[in-house]
Amino acid sequence: VRQPRPEDKFSFGLWTVGWTGTDPFGGPSRPALDPWEYAEKLAELGAWGITFHDNDVFPFDADAATRRDRCAKLKDAADKAGLVVEMVTTNTFSHPVFKDGGLTSNDRSVRRFGLRKVLRTVDIAAEMGATTFVMWGGREGAEYDGSKDLYAALERYKEGLDTVAGYIKSQGYDLRIGLEPKPNEPRGDIFLPTAGHALALIAQLEHGDIVGLNPETGHEQMANLNYTHGLAQALWSGKLFHIDLNGQRGLKYDQDLVFGHGDLISAFFTVDLLENGFPGYPDGPRYTGPRHFDYKPSRTEHLDGVWESAKACMATYLMLAEKAAAFRADPRVQEAMAYSGVHELAEPTLAPGESVADFLAADEDFDPEKAAERDYGFVRLQQLALEHLIG
Ligand code: GCO
Ligand code: MN
Ligand code: MN
Ligand code: MN
Repeated sequence: VRQPRPEDKFSFGLWTVGWTGTDPFGGPSRPALDPWEYAEKLAELGAWGITFHDNDVFPFDADAATRRDRCAKLKDAADKAGLVVEMVTTNTFSHPVFKDGGLTSNDRSVRRFGLRKVLRTVDIAAEMGATTFVMWGGREGAEYDGSKDLYAALERYKEGLDTVAGYIKSQGYDLRIGLEPKPNEPRGDIFLPTAGHALALIAQLEHGDIVGLNPETGHEQMANLNYTHGLAQALWSGKLFHIDLNGQRGLKYDQDLVFGHGDLISAFFTVDLLENGFPGYPDGPRYTGPRHFDYKPSRTEHLDGVWESAKACMATYLMLAEKAAAFRADPRVQEAMAYSGVHELAEPTLAPGESVADFLAADEDFDPEKAAERDYGFVRLQQLALEHLIG
């Protein structure tokens, strides 16, 4: 597989390669490097961009001078390495002050503190030249239904998001917000559990035009949902602003595996959609943003394994992109798609200009029994995909 190139737009969170292996059952299994060291190494491996939380770069209690110095040092390293800081986000989940959430804590003073921390990070994002501001409400949620006025929680979530989006506009920043859904973990139930929930909330916002999604592979799969379908609906809605690619195997804790190390055939179709778009709409909506990996190098790996895992994310994406291109170009696949009627779905059900009255009056000699005999050939089409994937 070829080396990653800048035009592949591969990017990594500093917290991904920077995860030292601390989990609920044990401490770190490898050392922590400085943020700029991760950046330099990622550039060497062929990454195009990096992303970070405020507190990946400076401590929670850092004073203004320390915040500025450490951000400047990172930006400098990124510039020297030719890396783009494409996305910045806020940590509103690690410090115990956020144990009941940032924007939706029952405690108003915590909400005011959390919102200020988010707005301050928006300024940092703009200074860094980022174009996406992710908001993952990891602690926005509950364990017990009686602990929250759920109407109020949605009101406060909306208030918080509109305040941040309004601030971005008032400052004239070239930033869009990417909401990141997740069903659970660390809360028993997180608000905005899926891409669909987040889209529905965005529709209620005053400044929803600059708010879209940052869907993560494993998070949709933790809800037993189809990640590719989630991406498709976000694209169709004009709301696919950013993506978090990783791997997840079934309904269990958030595994954050290397991309492709979870549901591989699902990963194939994810890449097929990202690279090749909707089959019936050559001019339809396409995702052109960063191919961003949000994964955790398994705790069993030391630093060599960390870099191997970052390379694996990019290599897997490139291999799948190659296979997805070959899949689409294969005449057998084109014939199978035609047999399956994949392109037929793009034709509107009503004729151009056809009124409902005309439609109802039209007496088509449609025979349901005959139509029920149609063979769709979806299995053969899927087997051709598999052949391209592993053949
Ligand atoms: C997860 C989440 C987080 C967020 C990231 C951005 O795996 O639970 O993906 O990693 O993406 O922290 O805020
Ligand atoms: Mn995750
Ligand atoms: Mn994520
Ligand atoms: Mn993650």
